Amino acid sequence: MQIVILDDAAQVAAYGADIFAKQLLKKPASVLGLATGSTPVALYQELITKNKAGDISFSQATTFNLDEYLGLTGEHPQSYRYFMNEQLFNHIDIDKTNTHVPPGDAENPLAACKDYEQKIVDAGGIDVQLLGIGRNGHIGFNEPSSGLASRTRVKTLTKATIDDNARFFAEGEYQPHLSITMGIGTILDAKKVVLLATGESKADAVHAMVEGPLMAKCPASALQLHKDAVIIIDKAAASKL
Ligand code: GLP
Repeated sequence: MQIVILDDAAQVAAYGADIFAKQLLKKPASVLGLATGSTPVALYQELITKNKAGDISFSQATTFNLDEYLGLTGEHPQSYRYFMNEQLFNHIDIDKTNTHVPPGDAENPLAACKDYEQKIVDAGGIDVQLLGIGRNGHIGFNEPSSGLASRTRVKTLTKATIDDNARFFAEGEYQPHLSITMGIGTILDAKKVVLLATGESKADAVHAMVEGPLMAKCPASALQLHKDAVIIIDKAAASKL
């Protein structure tokens, strides 16, 4: 694991965006693994700016998102497909048919999970996978106790994650308790992994991921096994290292 500690969230976003920009310059037809949550938003803004300036192009790129709520269509404002369209895809020169988010409205979710894995393989595997981290150490929606070799599957969300993400839903609005998520094994198959974490609320999770034992209780600790994992954090998220 390479740990990069920077002053603040803006520097974290800029550093992370540079990795993705360099990847696209090196290989325009890159396969990028993308993430949702509030942390990557600033990185996406950096990429949009670079794209508008003509510094990078997504025209040949393919993307795969980590996860999606099961039970929401892509038109639902809380779905991760909607989030990705709003935060990135609608503002860059990507061919939307090359963007993939697990289908939250799949009639047969189990078959959809297998299909998603196959699509990643058919695309040649993920070149760089972006990750955030949950306060309980989850990556994607791989909650504590997830198998370290798990593949894309349906996963029940923990109460902690439901509570953490409740801020995105209006009061009384239906909030799914199930998701489709790439597995930890799927994530570890990416050639490079870039995890961003900012703020003190992530300090315990960052500590467990970097300095704790490798354990299913902290899914992100599986990144210790990856040969090219870059952990980009601000001082606050690094405060317990
Ligand atoms: C969700 C997503 C994760 C993300 C996490 C943290 O649970 N499934 O991929 O890392 O939230 O989100 P935030 O960046 O908003 O703290």
